[in-house]
Amino acid sequence: MSRTDILMTAPMNPIVIDALDKAFTLHRLWEQDDKEAFLKEFGPRIRGVATSTLFGRVDSTLLDRLPNAEIVSSFGVGYDNVDAEEAARRNIVVTNTPGVLDDEVADLTLGLLLATLRKIPQADRYLRDGKWLKASFPLSATLRDRKVGIVGLGRIGKAIAKRLSGFDVSIAYHGRTQQDDVAYPYYPTVTGLAEACDVLIVITPGGAATKHLINAEVLKALGSNGVLINVARGTVVDEQALIDALKSGTILSAGLDVYEDEPRVPQELIDLEHVVLLPHIASASVHTRNAMGKLVADNLISWFDGKGPLTPVAETPYKGKAG
Ligand code: NAP
Ligand code: 8YV
Repeated sequence: MSRTDILMTAPMNPIVIDALDKAFTLHRLWEQDDKEAFLKEFGPRIRGVATSTLFGRVDSTLLDRLPNAEIVSSFGVGYDNVDAEEAARRNIVVTNTPGVLDDEVADLTLGLLLATLRKIPQADRYLRDGKWLKASFPLSATLRDRKVGIVGLGRIGKAIAKRLSGFDVSIAYHGRTQQDDVAYPYYPTVTGLAEACDVLIVITPGGAATKHLINAEVLKALGSNGVLINVARGTVVDEQALIDALKSGTILSAGLDVYEDEPRVPQELIDLEHVVLLPHIASASVHTRNAMGKLVADNLISWFDGKGPLTPVAETPYKGKAG
């Protein structure tokens, strides 16, 4: 019996490659010199796609070349790299990797918040530069007495709130809807939340609906003692407005894991000594990336075993017709 053909769009975690190599015939698109010619010849055979938020978009341009695709399994809980509405129109299921990274991302978020407020990377650089031999490191801002606003109190937002509760700070949130089972104060607008808080932690999905949700008005409302932490997607924050706010003292500081045009980070941000910049590492431990990779492979295996997708996204709910 012939094996199912799966397309991988870019190199992924070895766990995914090994599992898919065992179960399917895996085609590595990135190894093809002439991708267009490859897709013309092999595209009609492809029934499943493995992809990642890091490498290019799966949209109608690619899907047009894969007329028999049934499932797109994407690495990452955010799936703004996949045009899920277009996939739904074509009866293609899209899956992501929710849940398995919540604790890792929340841990990193707390680390980034403390690093930003207490200037941990700057203090490390200070010591290495030999400056401690001449003078003590300057006193920093604090987490004490802060009000933290979480923009996007979903799976990861709640894991962040759980950790924050151990730090004895007050917590509030914004989302499109108030959650009945959540006791934290709810703000129906992000500007209202920013006015009430002096830390904003952004952990929403990316994509058109949240583009520049954090803009100049929100940053002004956050105020001169305010700190912005973005672990969501770069697109959620108007990066130029943020740079302006950081330069003018409209807000105090920022800790960022994500950027509008990754991996390119504006030199203006890099030049700012009082911000902490991470290279999109919130889920990037061996433990958690392996769990995410396993879920990418398991979604494909489950689908082609006829058992349905394990974690379909909202736009493509499972309707009981697995390959
Ligand atoms: P989730 O459980 O779906 O939670 C998303 C939250 O965002 C929900 O509370 C939702 O509330 C809110 N939201 C959605 N659209 C919104 C909008 N237009 N305006 C305001 N709030 C909105 O997702 P999750 O698993 O926590 O993941 C959240 C996101 O984190 C991912 O999509 C990804 O972009 C990002 N992420 C980043 C990293 C990283 O490496 N930095 C790692 C993992 C995840 P409502 O529905 O009430 O609006
Ligand atoms: C990963 C992420 O960095 O899950 C997400 O949405 O942004 C991160 O966990 C990303 O998926 C890497 O491809």
